Amino acid sequence: MKGVILAGGLGTRLQPLTLVTNKHLLPVYDRPMIYYPIQTLLDAGIDDVLIVTGGEHAGDFLKLLGNGHKLGLAHLEYAYQQGEGGIADALKLAEDFADGGPIAVALGDNIIEGTIAGAVNAYREQGSGAKVLLKRVPDPHRFGVARFEGEGDAKRIVEIIEKPEDPPSDYAVTGFYLYDKQVFDICRTLKPSGRGELEITDVNNWYLERGELTHDTLEGWWTDAGTIPSLYRATRLLAHKDGAADPQELSEIDAAPGAGGSA
Ligand code: G1P
Repeated sequence: MKGVILAGGLGTRLQPLTLVTNKHLLPVYDRPMIYYPIQTLLDAGIDDVLIVTGGEHAGDFLKLLGNGHKLGLAHLEYAYQQGEGGIADALKLAEDFADGGPIAVALGDNIIEGTIAGAVNAYREQGSGAKVLLKRVPDPHRFGVARFEGEGDAKRIVEIIEKPEDPPSDYAVTGFYLYDKQVFDICRTLKPSGRGELEITDVNNWYLERGELTHDTLEGWWTDAGTIPSLYRATRLLAHKDGAADPQELSEIDAAPGAGGSA
């Protein structure tokens, strides 16, 4: 399976840090943010990757990553997103790269402790449709959130709501998605949301409405790094994983308002 990392956007929530660089090139602990989703894909056996980026600093990705071989990628391509159309708009640029096959999509600011390898393998067996990865979080209103119906084995997602004021559960949809080739036709049908973007949540609801969406739950911590508190938290979580941080400090960071993610 091929992988697509979405690394565009203006990074407005990280200004002024993002006035002179792309969000995904900012340091998170000991390496640039984009290294983490690349490693997540590599760990799942995906070494043929497209990075979709945009803005004034797109050329810096090439300077940093080159052909990707040093990081272990067999093949690395780049696509340039004109303007700020949102995640599903950026994904459209991956159609030629996907070449009719399934894709694993990672948001460039999503960092995990563990692996998505199990979900990728399960999706390979699923063969078609889509799969999302969920994680319980203390602040679901910041994310796409799953609404469930039923109990036990009959429990299933019936809707995904983007940044709900009143979250129906504490299960966030993380920035890792597995799609078949239908995803590109779906992206073409989308209309911009209230924030003027084509929403990945609308793509996921399309699959859901047709009974073609499955989900797994991520093991280990997950965080985005798109706000100052979550960027700081990501650094601390990684330092902790590396044995370079005091666990007490980590629990204080977790307790900070707006820190996001999950431990
Ligand atoms: C995006 C998605 C959201 C998802 C989140 C994960 O949010 O729209 O559904 O839960 O990524 O990081 P954004 O980063 O655009 O606010």
